Amino acid sequence: MWALTLYRSTIGKKVIMAVTGLMLVGFVIAHMAGNLQMFVGPAKMNGYAAFLQGLGELLWVARIGLIVATVLHVLMAWQLTQIKRQARPVGYEQRTPQVSTLASRSMRWGGVLLLVFIVFHILHFTTGTVFPAASQPDAQYPGFSHINVYGNVISAFRNPLVTGFYVVAMLFLMLHLFHGAWASVRTLGLSKPSRHPLHRRISTVIAIVVWLGFTAIPVAVLLGAIR
Ligand code: HEM
Repeated sequence: MWALTLYRSTIGKKVIMAVTGLMLVGFVIAHMAGNLQMFVGPAKMNGYAAFLQGLGELLWVARIGLIVATVLHVLMAWQLTQIKRQARPVGYEQRTPQVSTLASRSMRWGGVLLLVFIVFHILHFTTGTVFPAASQPDAQYPGFSHINVYGNVISAFRNPLVTGFYVVAMLFLMLHLFHGAWASVRTLGLSKPSRHPLHRRISTVIAIVVWLGFTAIPVAVLLGAIR
Protein backbone atom coordinates (compact mmCIF):
# COMPACT_ATOMS: atom_id res chain seq x y z
CA MET A 1 0.00 0.00 0.00
CA TRP A 2 1.38 3.42 -0.96
CA ALA A 3 0.58 4.99 2.44
CA LEU A 4 2.66 2.35 4.25
CA THR A 5 5.55 2.75 1.81
CA LEU A 6 5.41 6.53 2.37
CA TYR A 7 5.31 6.10 6.16
CA ARG A 8 8.33 3.76 6.10
CA SER A 9 10.64 5.98 3.99
CA THR A 10 12.62 8.89 5.42
CA ILE A 11 11.27 11.33 2.84
CA GLY A 12 7.75 10.01 3.53
CA LYS A 13 8.19 10.80 7.23
CA LYS A 14 9.37 14.31 6.31
CA VAL A 15 6.33 14.78 4.05
CA ILE A 16 4.01 13.68 6.90
CA MET A 17 5.81 16.14 9.23
CA ALA A 18 5.44 18.94 6.70
CA VAL A 19 1.74 18.33 5.95
CA THR A 20 0.75 17.93 9.63
CA GLY A 21 2.91 20.96 10.50
CA LEU A 22 1.08 23.11 7.93
CA MET A 23 -2.27 21.92 9.33
CA LEU A 24 -1.15 23.01 12.81
CA VAL A 25 0.04 26.39 11.44
CA GLY A 26 -3.47 26.84 9.98
CA PHE A 27 -5.03 26.09 13.38
CA VAL A 28 -2.67 28.45 15.21
CA ILE A 29 -3.47 31.35 12.83
CA ALA A 30 -7.23 30.77 13.17
CA HIS A 31 -7.00 30.42 16.97
CA MET A 32 -4.96 33.62 17.26
CA ALA A 33 -7.41 35.56 15.06
CA GLY A 34 -10.36 34.22 17.10
CA ASN A 35 -8.70 35.14 20.39
CA LEU A 36 -8.17 38.74 19.27
CA GLN A 37 -11.91 39.18 19.91
CA MET A 38 -10.80 39.59 23.54
CA PHE A 39 -10.10 43.20 22.51
CA VAL A 40 -13.71 43.69 21.35
CA GLY A 41 -15.29 42.67 24.65
CA PRO A 42 -16.95 39.91 26.71
CA ALA A 43 -20.11 39.58 24.57
CA LYS A 44 -18.14 39.08 21.36
CA MET A 45 -15.57 36.67 22.86
CA ASN A 46 -18.10 34.59 24.81
CA GLY A 47 -20.43 34.54 21.77
CA TYR A 48 -17.57 33.17 19.68
CA ALA A 49 -16.72 30.52 22.31
CA ALA A 50 -20.41 29.52 22.54
CA PHE A 51 -20.54 29.22 18.75
CA LEU A 52 -17.51 26.88 18.77
CA GLN A 53 -18.86 24.83 21.69
CA GLY A 54 -22.24 24.62 19.91
CA LEU A 55 -20.70 22.99 16.85
CA GLY A 56 -21.09 19.64 18.65
CA GLU A 57 -19.90 16.75 16.47
CA LEU A 58 -18.16 19.09 14.04
CA LEU A 59 -16.03 20.40 16.91
CA TRP A 60 -15.04 16.83 17.74
CA VAL A 61 -14.11 16.17 14.11
CA ALA A 62 -11.80 19.23 14.27
CA ARG A 63 -10.41 18.17 17.67
CA ILE A 64 -9.68 14.62 16.48
CA GLY A 65 -8.04 16.03 13.32
CA LEU A 66 -5.84 18.26 15.51
CA ILE A 67 -4.90 15.39 17.84
CA VAL A 68 -4.04 13.06 14.92
CA ALA A 69 -1.95 15.81 13.26
CA THR A 70 -0.11 16.54 16.53
CA VAL A 71 0.58 12.86 17.31
CA LEU A 72 1.85 12.18 13.76
CA HIS A 73 3.97 15.36 13.83
CA VAL A 74 5.64 14.42 17.13
CA LEU A 75 6.01 10.74 16.17
CA MET A 76 7.72 11.60 12.88
CA ALA A 77 10.04 14.06 14.65
CA TRP A 78 11.00 11.33 17.12
CA GLN A 79 11.52 8.68 14.43
CA LEU A 80 13.58 11.01 12.23
CA THR A 81 15.76 11.87 15.25
CA GLN A 82 16.33 8.14 15.90
CA ILE A 83 17.25 7.57 12.23
CA LYS A 84 19.69 10.48 12.39
CA ARG A 85 21.26 9.16 15.62
CA GLN A 86 21.66 5.65 14.18
CA ALA A 87 23.34 7.11 11.10
CA ARG A 88 25.82 8.96 13.31
CA PRO A 89 26.11 7.20 16.69
CA VAL A 90 29.26 9.13 17.64
CA GLY A 91 28.71 12.88 17.93
CA TYR A 92 30.94 15.50 16.34
CA GLU A 93 34.09 16.28 18.30
CA GLN A 94 33.70 19.96 17.56
CA ARG A 95 30.55 21.48 16.14
CA THR A 96 30.37 25.18 15.40
CA PRO A 97 27.18 25.99 13.48
CA GLN A 98 27.98 27.80 10.22
CA VAL A 99 24.76 28.76 8.47
CA SER A 100 22.01 27.25 10.63
CA THR A 101 19.71 29.58 12.58
CA LEU A 102 18.75 29.45 16.25
CA ALA A 103 15.23 28.60 15.05
CA SER A 104 16.39 25.53 13.11
CA ARG A 105 18.65 24.30 15.94
CA SER A 106 15.88 24.63 18.53
CA MET A 107 13.25 22.65 16.59
CA ARG A 108 13.55 19.49 18.71
CA TRP A 109 13.73 20.83 22.27
CA GLY A 110 11.54 23.83 21.35
CA GLY A 111 8.97 21.36 20.01
CA VAL A 112 9.05 19.39 23.28
CA LEU A 113 8.48 22.63 25.23
CA LEU A 114 5.53 23.51 22.99
CA LEU A 115 4.03 20.10 23.66
CA VAL A 116 4.31 20.73 27.41
CA PHE A 117 2.69 24.14 26.85
CA ILE A 118 -0.23 22.65 24.86
CA VAL A 119 -0.96 20.04 27.57
CA PHE A 120 -0.88 22.74 30.27
CA HIS A 121 -2.96 25.10 28.11
CA ILE A 122 -5.78 22.57 27.58
CA LEU A 123 -5.87 21.74 31.31
CA HIS A 124 -5.88 25.51 31.96
CA PHE A 125 -8.42 27.01 29.55
CA THR A 126 -10.44 24.10 28.12
CA THR A 127 -11.01 21.89 31.16
CA GLY A 128 -10.09 24.35 33.95
CA THR A 129 -8.31 21.53 35.81
CA VAL A 130 -5.22 23.56 36.74
CA PHE A 131 -7.02 26.89 36.81
CA PRO A 132 -7.31 27.56 40.55
CA ALA A 133 -3.69 26.62 41.19
CA ALA A 134 -2.34 28.70 38.34
CA SER A 135 -4.47 31.81 38.67
CA GLN A 136 -5.38 34.24 41.38
CA PRO A 137 -8.97 34.28 42.61
CA ASP A 138 -10.54 37.44 41.37
CA ALA A 139 -13.55 39.30 42.80
CA GLN A 140 -14.90 40.07 39.35
CA TYR A 141 -14.21 36.59 37.89
CA PRO A 142 -14.06 34.24 40.90
CA GLY A 143 -13.30 30.96 39.14
CA PHE A 144 -13.20 28.95 35.94
CA SER A 145 -16.46 28.95 33.99
CA HIS A 146 -17.27 27.16 30.73
CA ILE A 147 -19.63 29.95 29.70
CA ASN A 148 -17.37 32.89 30.56
CA VAL A 149 -14.24 32.29 28.47
CA TYR A 150 -13.57 36.04 28.50
CA GLY A 151 -13.54 36.04 32.32
CA ASN A 152 -11.27 32.97 32.38
CA VAL A 153 -8.69 34.70 30.19
CA ILE A 154 -8.80 37.95 32.21
CA SER A 155 -8.61 36.16 35.54
CA ALA A 156 -5.75 33.91 34.39
CA PHE A 157 -3.52 36.67 33.01
CA ARG A 158 -3.91 38.95 36.04
CA ASN A 159 -1.37 36.59 37.54
CA PRO A 160 2.12 37.73 36.36
CA LEU A 161 3.49 34.17 36.62
CA VAL A 162 0.86 32.81 34.24
CA THR A 163 1.37 35.75 31.87
CA GLY A 164 5.16 35.25 32.01
CA PHE A 165 4.76 31.56 31.18
CA TYR A 166 2.56 32.32 28.16
CA VAL A 167 4.85 35.11 26.93
CA VAL A 168 7.88 32.78 27.02
CA ALA A 169 5.91 29.93 25.37
CA MET A 170 4.88 32.30 22.56
CA LEU A 171 8.57 33.11 21.92
CA PHE A 172 9.20 29.38 21.42
CA LEU A 173 6.16 29.16 19.17
CA MET A 174 7.54 32.03 17.08
CA LEU A 175 10.92 30.30 16.68
CA HIS A 176 9.24 26.99 15.79
CA LEU A 177 6.99 28.65 13.19
CA PHE A 178 9.84 30.72 11.77
CA HIS A 179 11.77 27.60 10.78
CA GLY A 180 8.90 25.09 10.49
CA ALA A 181 6.62 27.00 8.15
CA TRP A 182 9.56 27.59 5.81
CA ALA A 183 11.03 24.08 6.00
CA SER A 184 7.69 22.35 5.33
CA VAL A 185 7.18 24.27 2.09
CA ARG A 186 10.74 23.33 1.08
CA THR A 187 10.20 19.62 1.94
CA LEU A 188 7.03 19.54 -0.14
CA GLY A 189 8.87 21.22 -3.05
CA LEU A 190 6.11 23.82 -3.35
CA SER A 191 8.40 26.64 -4.45
CA LYS A 192 11.24 27.02 -6.91
CA PRO A 193 14.85 27.28 -5.58
CA SER A 194 15.81 30.93 -5.07
CA ARG A 195 18.33 32.95 -3.08
CA HIS A 196 15.48 35.00 -1.60
CA PRO A 197 12.55 32.58 -1.48
CA LEU A 198 9.11 34.10 -1.08
CA HIS A 199 8.05 31.40 1.39
CA ARG A 200 10.93 32.45 3.68
CA ARG A 201 9.42 35.93 3.87
CA ILE A 202 5.89 34.55 4.27
CA SER A 203 6.92 32.29 7.18
CA THR A 204 8.74 35.23 8.83
CA VAL A 205 5.54 37.31 8.61
CA ILE A 206 3.43 34.39 9.94
CA ALA A 207 5.82 33.83 12.88
CA ILE A 208 5.83 37.54 13.83
CA VAL A 209 2.06 38.12 13.38
CA VAL A 210 1.18 34.98 15.40
CA TRP A 211 3.65 35.95 18.13
CA LEU A 212 2.32 39.52 18.33
CA GLY A 213 -1.34 38.44 18.25
CA PHE A 214 -0.96 35.84 21.00
CA THR A 215 1.39 37.89 23.19
CA ALA A 216 -0.79 41.01 23.04
CA ILE A 217 -3.59 39.31 25.02
CA PRO A 218 -1.80 38.31 28.26
CA VAL A 219 0.25 41.51 28.23
CA ALA A 220 -2.84 43.71 27.71
CA VAL A 221 -4.62 41.96 30.60
CA LEU A 222 -1.64 42.30 32.93
CA LEU A 223 -1.31 46.00 32.09
CA GLY A 224 -5.05 46.48 32.69
CA ALA A 225 -5.72 47.53 29.09
CA ILE A 226 -8.51 44.93 28.91
CA ARG A 227 -10.40 44.07 32.06
C1 HEM B 1 -2.11 33.95 24.61
C2 HEM B 1 -2.30 32.88 23.92
C3 HEM B 1 -3.55 32.02 23.96
C4 HEM B 1 -4.78 32.26 24.51
C5 HEM B 1 -5.27 33.50 25.26
C6 HEM B 1 -5.59 31.11 24.26
C7 HEM B 1 -6.90 30.94 24.68
C8 HEM B 1 -7.62 29.76 24.64
C9 HEM B 1 -8.90 29.54 25.26
C10 HEM B 1 -9.69 30.59 26.04
C11 HEM B 1 -9.28 28.25 25.00
C12 HEM B 1 -10.58 27.55 25.44
C13 HEM B 1 -11.68 27.85 24.46
C14 HEM B 1 -13.04 27.31 24.89
O1 HEM B 1 -13.12 26.51 25.80
O2 HEM B 1 -14.02 27.72 24.27
C15 HEM B 1 -8.20 27.65 24.23
C16 HEM B 1 -8.19 26.34 23.76
C17 HEM B 1 -7.15 25.78 23.04
N1 HEM B 1 -6.00 26.38 22.64
FE1 HEM B 1 -5.44 28.27 23.07
N2 HEM B 1 -4.86 30.18 23.55
C18 HEM B 1 -3.59 30.71 23.35
C19 HEM B 1 -2.54 30.11 22.69
C20 HEM B 1 -2.57 28.85 22.12
C21 HEM B 1 -1.51 28.25 21.37
C22 HEM B 1 -0.19 28.92 21.07
C23 HEM B 1 -1.93 26.99 21.00
C24 HEM B 1 -1.22 25.94 20.18
C25 HEM B 1 0.05 25.94 19.88
C26 HEM B 1 -3.25 26.82 21.52
C27 HEM B 1 -4.01 25.67 21.36
C28 HEM B 1 -5.24 25.47 21.93
C29 HEM B 1 -5.96 24.20 21.86
C30 HEM B 1 -5.48 22.93 21.16
C31 HEM B 1 -7.17 24.40 22.55
C32 HEM B 1 -8.28 23.37 22.78
C33 HEM B 1 -9.35 23.58 21.76
C34 HEM B 1 -10.56 22.74 22.09
O3 HEM B 1 -11.15 22.92 23.14
O4 HEM B 1 -10.88 21.90 21.27
N3 HEM B 1 -3.62 27.96 22.19
N4 HEM B 1 -7.21 28.59 24.03
